[in-house]
Amino acid sequence: MTTFAKEESATETSIRRPPASAPSHHARSLLEIGGRRMPFMRWSFIRLLLSLRRLMRVWQVGDGREERLAGYVVENAREGDLDDVIRAIDEYSYSRSYMINVGDEKGAILDEAVRRARPSQLLELGTYCGYSALRMCRAMPDGARLVSIEFNAANAVIARRILEYAGVSDRVAVLVGTLGDGGLTIASLEAEHGFSAGSLDFVFIDHDKSAYVSDLELILSRGWLHPGSVVVADNVKFPGAPDYRAYLKECQDVRWRTIEHEAHLEYQSLLRDLVLESDYLGG
Ligand SMILES: C[S@@+](CC[C@H](N)C(=O)[O-])C[C@H]1O[C@@H](n2cnc3c(N)ncnc32)[C@H](O)[C@@H]1O
Repeated sequence: MTTFAKEESATETSIRRPPASAPSHHARSLLEIGGRRMPFMRWSFIRLLLSLRRLMRVWQVGDGREERLAGYVVENAREGDLDDVIRAIDEYSYSRSYMINVGDEKGAILDEAVRRARPSQLLELGTYCGYSALRMCRAMPDGARLVSIEFNAANAVIARRILEYAGVSDRVAVLVGTLGDGGLTIASLEAEHGFSAGSLDFVFIDHDKSAYVSDLELILSRGWLHPGSVVVADNVKFPGAPDYRAYLKECQDVRWRTIEHEAHLEYQSLLRDLVLESDYLGG
């Protein structure tokens, strides 16, 4: 017989005090079989699957989990402590509600790519609640600046609240919009955030999977990248961005040099995923 992990129910709105540190042994053991974390046995994962169509349209699950995350962070993490805020988000995502953050496993790949690139100007497509933005802030050099673009205004409000609480809001700007919104967001990036020819050192792509190629092409058409710029993309295997993978394969060692990192979908170790890390060679 399988047991559901004890998590927030869909209707629960109150914040319960969590264990002091990372997901408790008890919470984790209920989610694991043979050492593999099983997201399928979590009510919040099933709830997410049931809301998949809505999630892909409005980018919130619909049970308030994103809003509750911000409350959880404020109640359970130390203000101004970036590490502790990241820890609290992982804890919430393991033990309370499954979240579509890049997560701890793939997040470590992102961290390494940021450290290797030593970027001054970074762009993220898809802020959600700000988790990956926090990780990039932690890994990027002092003085670097990240602009993160988010389609859903409510997610942007949550992310800003969390980034502010972590004490990094002077290093990250969250813009509501999309790169394909007819030029509004691009104009703002160029007029207000210093995006110009060759200025962009690092891009993290983690938004609408069908827009990965078109948005990368938009970035290229603006000339923001320079040889040596690094582009990292999440979820290339699951839910999947096969056209993006094929696009980079086609110009391997000509325009791009790509490494494929095998990993798992966030917050579990059963479903596999790929993170692509691509160096722009120019041309
Ligand atoms: C997988 S989540 C991002 C997770 C986040 N990067 C993290 O790891 O914490 C995808 C986010 O992309 C946003 N999104 C979807 N389409 C977008 C677009 N065209 N431009 C910008 N954001 C978009 C969604 O609203 C959602 O918040």
